[in-house]
Order: sequence, then structure tokens, then C-alpha cells
Amino acid sequence: MALLTIIKYPDPFLKTKTALVKNVDDSIRELISDMVETMYYAKGIGLAATQVGVDKRIVVLDVPNRRTDDEEDEKPVKGKNLIALINPEIIEAEGTTVYEEGCLSIPGFTADVERAAKVRIKALNRNGEPISFEAGGLFAIALQHEIDHLDGILFIDRLSRLKREMIKRKIKKALESEERAL
Ligand code: NI
Repeated sequence: MALLTIIKYPDPFLKTKTALVKNVDDSIRELISDMVETMYYAKGIGLAATQVGVDKRIVVLDVPNRRTDDEEDEKPVKGKNLIALINPEIIEAEGTTVYEEGCLSIPGFTADVERAAKVRIKALNRNGEPISFEAGGLFAIALQHEIDHLDGILFIDRLSRLKREMIKRKIKKALESEERAL
């Protein structure tokens, strides 16, 4: 296993519309292991291949369960909800929800993003077998965020033009002061 480098905005590679995986072989499974290790190291709940500079439709996620009123506040268990998806597709979407999203490729910035509240996903698992499932809550949001990455779309691209320009200006300013500090 190896840690991969996470590409940061405004690297143009993040705009890549990634290619379908044709063969789920050991090299793909190794890439998935490296992506999982990198996601945990970066303390993310999801990571797309685009973010590690790989032109392939692969995402990994480990979204902690959301607390519900009738449940104890369960501590998230690493690996409990770990899932790797190859060539994931949203085949149904329902409702809308707003969540304050962040991204490992845009560290330090968050914004409210509107997405579908429920999705049905079709993908291949790491053995190359077709799977399909429904997701809601934070898991549905994270799935849409990661699948967007595979199409070269960042969460800031989902904001209104005004909000997008505002956050882009703030990021640019932060990057400039970071440069000056070196
Ligand atoms: Ni992201």
C-alpha cells in the first residue's frame, strides 16, 4: 500500500472527465487500497481517483452513520462503512437536501450545496461484480460529490455564479498569501 498525493484546486487535472474502467484487475484493486489509505490519512469520508491524478472512474467512501434520535451517539468505526465503487452511476435521484460540503482538494473551504436527498447507484465492486443500492443522508451527498469528481466537477461548481465567484476569490487570496509565506 502507498499514500498517494491529493491534487489541490486549481490544478486543471481536477476538471478531467475520467475514463471507464474496462478491466477490474489486481492493478485496480491495488489502486483502490492506496486510495483508501490516502482517504484515511487525509481524514476524508470520500475520495475520487481524479483527486489522486488517475484518469479512471473509481471512488472510495467511508461515511460515518448519522446520529438519529433513537440511537446512542455511536462513535464512527473506521472501515465499517467502507465501500469502493468502479464506474459508479446515479440511476435515480429523488428530493433535495442542502449540506455544508468540503473537499480534500479544496482544504479549508466549505459551502452549502444543494443535491438530491436520495439516490440509487449502479456500479461494479472491487471484484468486478455489478452492484446496485439506494442511499440517503450524508452517504447520498458524499456519493454525489465523489461521482461529480469523476466528471471533473467540484462542489464550488454547484454554487450559484455569485457564490462561486466569491469563494473562488477567497481561495485565490488564501493561495496567494500561502505563496508569500514560503
Ligand atoms: Ni471532493
